[in-house]
Amino acid sequence: MFFIALAASLVALGGFPVASLNVSYKNPILPGFHPDPSCILVREWDDTFFCATSSFNAVPGVPVFASKDLQNFRQIGNVITRQSQLPGLATTNGSTSGIWAPTIRFQNGTFWVVTTLVYDHLPANDTARWDNIIFHSSDPYDSSSWSDPVHFAFEGYDTSPYWAANGTTYIVGSHAWKIEEMIMGFQLDFSTGELIGEINDMWPGLGGIAPEAPHLFSRDDAFYLMIAEGGTGLGHKVNFARAPSMWGPYEGAPNDPLLTAANTSNYFQTVGHADLFQDINGNWWAVALSTRGGSSYTYFPMGRETILTPAAWEEGQYPTFDVVEGIEHGPLPSVNKEINSTGYWVGTTTEHITFPIGSSLPSHFVHQRYPDPSAYIISPAGHPNTLALAPSVLNLTGPDNRTASTPQTFVGRRQEHIEFTYQVTLDFDATEDEAEAGITVFLNQNQHFDLGIVTLTPSSAFHASFDGYAHGTSRYVRLRTVSLGSTDFGAASPLSGPAIVPLHAAPGEKVTLQVEAVSHTRYEFRYATPGKAFESVGWGNSSEVSGGFVGTIVGVFATGNGRDLSTNALFSDWTYKGRPNVL
Ligand SMILES: *[C@@H]1O[C@H](CO)[C@@H](O)[C@H](O)[C@H]1NC(C)=O
Ligand SMILES: *[C@@H]1O[C@H](CO)[C@@H](O)[C@H](O)[C@H]1NC(C)=O
Ligand SMILES: *[C@@H]1O[C@H](CO)[C@@H](O)[C@H](O)[C@H]1NC(C)=O
Ligand SMILES: *[C@@H]1O[C@H](CO)[C@@H](O)[C@H](O)[C@H]1NC(C)=O
Ligand SMILES: *[C@@H]1O[C@H](CO)[C@@H](O)[C@H](O)[C@H]1NC(C)=O
Ligand SMILES: *[C@@H]1O[C@H](CO)[C@@H](O)[C@H](O)[C@H]1NC(C)=O
Ligand SMILES: *[C@@H]1O[C@H](CO)[C@@H](O)[C@H](O)[C@H]1NC(C)=O
Ligand SMILES: *[C@@H]1O[C@H](CO)[C@@H](O)[C@H](O)[C@H]1NC(C)=O
Ligand SMILES: *[C@@H]1O[C@H](CO)[C@@H](O)[C@H](O)[C@H]1NC(C)=O
Ligand SMILES: *[C@@H]1O[C@H](CO)[C@@H](O)[C@H](O)[C@H]1NC(C)=O
Repeated sequence: MFFIALAASLVALGGFPVASLNVSYKNPILPGFHPDPSCILVREWDDTFFCATSSFNAVPGVPVFASKDLQNFRQIGNVITRQSQLPGLATTNGSTSGIWAPTIRFQNGTFWVVTTLVYDHLPANDTARWDNIIFHSSDPYDSSSWSDPVHFAFEGYDTSPYWAANGTTYIVGSHAWKIEEMIMGFQLDFSTGELIGEINDMWPGLGGIAPEAPHLFSRDDAFYLMIAEGGTGLGHKVNFARAPSMWGPYEGAPNDPLLTAANTSNYFQTVGHADLFQDINGNWWAVALSTRGGSSYTYFPMGRETILTPAAWEEGQYPTFDVVEGIEHGPLPSVNKEINSTGYWVGTTTEHITFPIGSSLPSHFVHQRYPDPSAYIISPAGHPNTLALAPSVLNLTGPDNRTASTPQTFVGRRQEHIEFTYQVTLDFDATEDEAEAGITVFLNQNQHFDLGIVTLTPSSAFHASFDGYAHGTSRYVRLRTVSLGSTDFGAASPLSGPAIVPLHAAPGEKVTLQVEAVSHTRYEFRYATPGKAFESVGWGNSSEVSGGFVGTIVGVFATGNGRDLSTNALFSDWTYKGRPNVL
């Protein structure tokens, strides 16, 4: 025993920081809408871990996080911040379009993100659905340093870069499942997007649907291919295969799936789409996506979140992974929050934003597709400490619950806690028919709950249908629970239904709008006028904003519901309070 202890301490003295403790940490490490994680350790940048996740139609796109301890993650920026980088993201269709599955890597002094801009199904030509793109940056703390993308042709998604020791660059990706289910790979010039040589079939997986999310590793004179299979729902899993050379032949690991929650009753389900990396002590870690909600798979409004689990990878073997749980143990680096950024710490329990003069929207705030920047003014003249929103013609559903031909005025942040309260104070005295501003719990254009102040005149059709209400009152507090069609997994179910109440507030009086997720199943909507207690307006069933590929965003909107109106909505005292997550 003595000799073992001595040997261990000598190793420690030999240059490996002794931060390896068996400490507990909580999953998810990136709670809320943070699917398809990819993470790396970058020794050249002060031993910092960097991660990126999918953003679908959210803009800015591809959030980038930094951490020194794998417990505290700070959003240090975004890869896509300029419309000129990727004009196509203005025209994506459907809730599952947009940016899928970034892979972040650091090579020879440069950060790289390879990802796919996905359009809707185009029945006549599926090739045009996938726009594969490569970004690079010399400083991820500065979002403006991310390049315009290099585009490359590949009929598929989940593309991931690989560098051979001699610097030759390759891509592995998932061939679109509608054509041939196959992980493919090829040499590519990352500076031009030019394909060099053939596209190689690498591995079809083990027969599960949608073999995807490949990452290629070279180790012990072999190539290891890590993939996801089974689709991103309850059958999701991580499989490994190994080959003596890059293009195969690959053979699946005897113990596949190496990581999955399928066929369990675990609270953390749908585990898959993993990435694998080492810390400075050589410990292996995996990140993956998971949905919290158990195998009933009904209530998971935050969608697919990012979890961390310890892994081990002995020489010549396949890796092993710990079962994903809410509280896990591992040899984590010691707590260190020295991240040189003013960005948001993911999972913060209290956020209070007062929109001070001279400030800008925080980098974790998102829009749907590209915003009209002029529609968001912080502290306009005469209205300090407000966020003024100019109404968009389109409301949050848009013309056809799929597209948005012009920008929608909406800005929000991810729901990161199962139970939370979000409220803002609104000063909105529009007299135009259908003028509306308020708060929303937003999953996608088909699924969102909006609590707004809306102006309706007696000539308005909607008002007419509420004949019983006082015609002298033109402003109302209205809850709309939009749940159209279905998401990929969601199902229609009863809601409290639309609700509308006359607003008894004098012009100039501010109204506070509030939503509280009182449980994992229910959002309650309330409002308060000055000096009065909150009054309930209605509620929504959280399963109505579950499902699909994305997760809920809470935020503010302003719209003319199809009309081009001009009265700005003034929001103040933005407050989000999350309660500690139930594990
Ligand atoms: C880490 O601690 C937990 C809880 O105390 C324990 O169950 C686990 O076996 C420990 N793991 C190691 C590798 O020591
Ligand atoms: C969006 O969907 C519409 C209707 O299906 C289609 O006509 C249009 O081409 C799609 N646009 C894109 C960019 O996918
Ligand atoms: C499909 O779209 C791609 C990319 O826009 C284009 O290069 C190709 O010619 C199209 N194929 C057909 C059959 O229209
Ligand atoms: C670089 O390495 C790859 C992988 O080992 C090999 O296939 C390729 O031929 C090498 N290229 C050059 C120019 O040496
Ligand atoms: C690494 O970067 C340096 C400086 O940018 C460049 O000169 C060199 O060719 C690069 N090496 C490889 C292997 O790409
Ligand atoms: C779950 O169980 C079913 C039925 O036994 C089986 O077909 C499937 O492969 C299992 N899934 C995983 C990921 O093990
Ligand atoms: C932190 O970032 C700022 C702005 O980029 C820079 O000026 C400063 O030198 C950095 N500080 C450290 C300790 O890296
Ligand atoms: C849009 O809503 C309509 C109902 O108004 C529904 O039939 C349709 O499926 C929805 N579209 C999508 C893409 O879900
Ligand atoms: C909420 O939605 C789920 C799933 O559709 C449904 O089973 C449940 O009955 C709904 N609850 C209420 C109170 O409507
Ligand atoms: C959205 O606006 C359109 C007009 O553009 C209107 O027909 C529709 O009722 C509104 N729907 C919702 C849910 O806001």
